[in-house]
Amino acid sequence: MSNKVAVGVLVSGGGTNLQALIDACAHPDYPAKIAVVISNKPDAYALTRAQNAGIATSVCRPREYSSKGHFEQAMVATLLDHQVGWVALAGFMRLLSTEFLSAFPKQVLNIHPSLLPAYPGLHAQRQALERGARISGASVHFVDEGCDTGSVIAQGAVPVLPTDHLEDLQSRILKMEHRVYPMALRWAVEGKVKLTDTGIVYQLSPGDFPSLFDPNP
Ligand code: GRF
Repeated sequence: MSNKVAVGVLVSGGGTNLQALIDACAHPDYPAKIAVVISNKPDAYALTRAQNAGIATSVCRPREYSSKGHFEQAMVATLLDHQVGWVALAGFMRLLSTEFLSAFPKQVLNIHPSLLPAYPGLHAQRQALERGARISGASVHFVDEGCDTGSVIAQGAVPVLPTDHLEDLQSRILKMEHRVYPMALRWAVEGKVKLTDTGIVYQLSPGDFPSLFDPNP
């Protein structure tokens, strides 16, 4: 596909979700390409993953800017330099302001390791375990100014087993994240899901929905 949509990915850590997006974008019929990866942490392994894939990278450290506004302006400038239309947060551990979001209106996505609106914020998998949930999962949502409060696009569910330790649940959910994120990003850039002023609108056919419950961990 020659007219792929340029996406910028914001990361802070290991970047396994970034890798899932890189792998999806490598398919000729996938409608997006990653134009730039920005990390707020210089040692994030996600940067290495991007470089290995030949993707431009940039580091924006909040402490090097006099305010959150200037930090975000630097990221917006980098994204616009790369003619990015959509922004995907992939393990990016900072809240974004209205000013940032207004540069990419209704075109910023995030992945979160729970079935939102359950367990927003940090340590979602631990929250699920501590609350005794028997099903959890992953959510991709449009980003708003809140913490994991934007409209949900797609979710994938996994069981929480009575024998689970935190690492078991984290890795089971992470595997599901890697399935859901490329699918949701595809829907978004193809216009099959849109956030409008009155809510989220889908234009999907039955074939667009894979089974997103994994009963066999
Ligand atoms: C993922 O669980 C993501 O949902 C959360 O942080 C983790 C990042 O993982 N926000 P990775 O950097 O994509 O491997």
